[in-house]
Amino acid sequence: MNILVIGNGGREHALAWKLAQSPRAARVWVAPGNGAAAAVPLASRQCPISNLQLSTTDPQPLVAFARQEEIGLTVVGPEAALAAGIVDAFQAAELPCFGPTRAAAQLETSKAFAKAFMARHGIPTGSYATFTEHAAARAHLRSVDYPVVIKASGLAAGKGVIVPESRGEAEYALSLLMVERAFGAAGDEVVIEERLYGQEASVLAFSDGRNVVPMPPAQDHKPVFDGDRGPNTGGMGAYAPAPLVTPALMDTILREILQPAVDGMRAAGTPYVGVLYAGLMIPALAPTGNSTVCKRGAGASVMDTRPKVLEFNCRFGDPETQVILPLLESDLVEVLEACLNGDLDRTAVRWQAGAAATVVAASEGYPGSYPKEREITGVSQASGLPGVTVFHAGTRRSGAGRLLTSGGRVLAVTGVGKDLPLAISRAYEGIAHIHFQGMHYRRDIGAKALPRDLHFSGKRSLWPVS
Ligand SMILES: Nc1ncnc2c1ncn2[C@@H]1O[C@H](COP(=O)(O)OP(=O)(O)OP(=O)(O)O)[C@@H](O)[C@H]1O
Ligand SMILES: [Mg+2]
Repeated sequence: MNILVIGNGGREHALAWKLAQSPRAARVWVAPGNGAAAAVPLASRQCPISNLQLSTTDPQPLVAFARQEEIGLTVVGPEAALAAGIVDAFQAAELPCFGPTRAAAQLETSKAFAKAFMARHGIPTGSYATFTEHAAARAHLRSVDYPVVIKASGLAAGKGVIVPESRGEAEYALSLLMVERAFGAAGDEVVIEERLYGQEASVLAFSDGRNVVPMPPAQDHKPVFDGDRGPNTGGMGAYAPAPLVTPALMDTILREILQPAVDGMRAAGTPYVGVLYAGLMIPALAPTGNSTVCKRGAGASVMDTRPKVLEFNCRFGDPETQVILPLLESDLVEVLEACLNGDLDRTAVRWQAGAAATVVAASEGYPGSYPKEREITGVSQASGLPGVTVFHAGTRRSGAGRLLTSGGRVLAVTGVGKDLPLAISRAYEGIAHIHFQGMHYRRDIGAKALPRDLHFSGKRSLWPVS
């Protein structure tokens, strides 16, 4: 089978890498892809991966290519492609394409839609109000006596959410979105949401429109510097499974969040087929099943201990995919086909025991502006280590075949091992081989899941590598 992956990041390389290991895969195309294509195959049983110079947001040329090359399965990576109606165009052409339709993807592409949907279906989330007029939004801000978060409703490449530390900052954020239109039309509608406290986790699930199969829970690291300091990025690393999400908590998340969301979308006539990604806030108090009431600040407020939805995304996460897919034992082609055929309940989705951690190597200056075209060395040495896989993100091949940086997040180095400490030490051992001028990465990926005295502190691993 020929397979097409749409996108160009680390997530898409991880998808292509896993799909290429399917015994049914003959060739995997990635549009537009990155420097991974010409690389030596990372896994022994892997079909060739090639790049295809087509836009991710222009459906018709992709449809034409899929017809011509008899693509048996297309997988959409980025949200912008879903918003552009790629899945709808493939469905109209009767070509199998994994991902939600444009209507179903509104769970991600409109935060106002997602909040109203959750309210209708009793899915736990922070209280909120939406506004299209700046004056009304500002009046609301002045009327509430609790901390808030300001969100552009539309897609803003992960930059449209502001967590203000004061009312002044909140007012500035509103005017940035609604008056200055810093994110264009994405900020024409704004969600003002109750600020939630606790630890964040990502639970991704496969859905065939009816059945929901969760993946191992993951934790991302958004701030650029160690200790969660500095500006937010697309994600500097991740690990899975996150011990914070206990099996009991996973049951609650499935029962109260993921299944009602999929049921609600089906009932609305927009069945959700694809990966549903719930960004969750897990309250600091360990949930015991029952809600508790506590006082916060001056006004008594009810705070229950259930996990609450911060956001839905309608796709695999980046860098979560780089830790989740290496743990998937089953054939990803089979799993995605089961979603498309509506028989996920009859398909075994197996995960290997152990854990995975990924560390992102970023360009100098990222998440601000950064230079490109810097030569990358050491990828094949790192990839040769046991339990280490290097996923390409912002890389490209020069005409002479040299590997150059071409983006802010350049590579994601994933370690897999029997437990999280081993996975982390393998990822750091791998990244120690990689070099490009100005490269930086966090040294504390996964540390929050470890006992305090096992904090990873440098290039040498604290744990023996078996
Ligand atoms: N209600 C809230 N309370 C506290 N923090 C929040 C809240 N909503 C969002 N955040 C913070 O802002 C971050 C980004 O929010 P959100 O996930 O909604 O934005 P996004 O732009 O869609 O992100 P992504 O790029 O991951 O899709 C969250 O990871 C969380 O840290
Ligand atoms: Mg989002």
